[in-house]
Amino acid sequence: MLDQTNRARSIEALAPRADFPILARPIHDRPLIYLDSTATSQKPATVLDAMDSYYRQTNANVHRGAYTLSEEASEQYEQARRHIARFIHAHSWREIIFTRNTTEGINLLAWTWGLSQLKARDTILLTEMEHHSNLVPWQILAQRTGAQLAFVPVREDGRLDLDAYRQLLETHMPKLVAFSLMSNVLGTIPPARLMVELAHAAGATVFCDGAQSVAHLPTDVRDLDCDALAFSGHKMLGPTGIGVLYGKRALLEALPPFMGGGDMIGEVQLHTFTPNALPWKFEAGTPAIAEVIGLAAALSYLEHLEMARVAAHETALVDYMLARLSAIPGLRIIGPTDAVDRGAVVSFTLAELHPHDLATLLDRDGIAIRAGHHCAQPLMERFAVPATARASAYVYTNAAEIDALGVAIERARRLFL
Ligand code: ALA
Repeated sequence: MLDQTNRARSIEALAPRADFPILARPIHDRPLIYLDSTATSQKPATVLDAMDSYYRQTNANVHRGAYTLSEEASEQYEQARRHIARFIHAHSWREIIFTRNTTEGINLLAWTWGLSQLKARDTILLTEMEHHSNLVPWQILAQRTGAQLAFVPVREDGRLDLDAYRQLLETHMPKLVAFSLMSNVLGTIPPARLMVELAHAAGATVFCDGAQSVAHLPTDVRDLDCDALAFSGHKMLGPTGIGVLYGKRALLEALPPFMGGGDMIGEVQLHTFTPNALPWKFEAGTPAIAEVIGLAAALSYLEHLEMARVAAHETALVDYMLARLSAIPGLRIIGPTDAVDRGAVVSFTLAELHPHDLATLLDRDGIAIRAGHHCAQPLMERFAVPATARASAYVYTNAAEIDALGVAIERARRLFL
């Protein structure tokens, strides 16, 4: 125990906690211990200030007016796009499309690429660990086109079965392979580069769901070589309501528009229109300007911390979290039990105590965790559990908070089991 206490003291938060105003808020008269960053992250003051400043100083619509405010708003909006392109190492800013969130990015692809490319009996290859966002849009597409779905199994240890993956590529020759770069339930980080390479060799287009990974790991789409990637601003210190779809330029150029409306057009006549150039072809209507600016501020904050250090911090934390939690009798970890290729999100059950009851009890100690199926019902079925409790960490998390989580779970266990 002494050893564990020493380890707990040695992992400090990577980001100054004072940068995050909400972390000063008491919950039930206890200091807030926020362990649900997988659902959404907290926001540093620089992000809040950037959005506030936009509304106070610059508020105007983009791409529309030849006046100072609109020009400044357009400039900030388009600079943010370039910033994102650099952050993920895209080839060009034209490959960056603003969406509402990861889910919208995936739906955009399904309704444009999917409807124009897939036909009956084509295969879409997914994995058993996908979030509903990277499952249901493809189910709808399969219903529309007659395409079929196949799934890479998840092994008992929470890792993907790569032998089965190779086999499925060979037998199905899928048109599309779509998988998450980090599971929001298991924390599993699959060998994405290898998976993309194998999929391409089998002739597939590859989509990667970066909802969890882009916030926590360095991202280089040129190195990864995926054809498209979607992620959300709110999971990476940015605001809600803003997401990004990256796509290789040639792929995006070939696609029809997604939604119709202002800004996505070149010219409009009564019976027809021509689409705008990339990326605006996919951005119909007034976009989330303040949120785009807030997201750029979040990127600056993360760049200041350095993504490689963010990843190392979380590996240290999850290593500690796995050791601390697995020492609790009756606690079952769902997912890899070592910190290798694993994000700092740990799902678990505690004997017969329902995860919702556990989460409610922990809330009284000021500890926020998520309980439920985590938008991954097939994965719950795979592990034969109706729900799990889930604790997840980020740049503002320290190991003392993980220790407090362990103590609170032990207390709940003593009281109710
Ligand atoms: N996808 C988010 C989560 O896993 C909402 O909590």
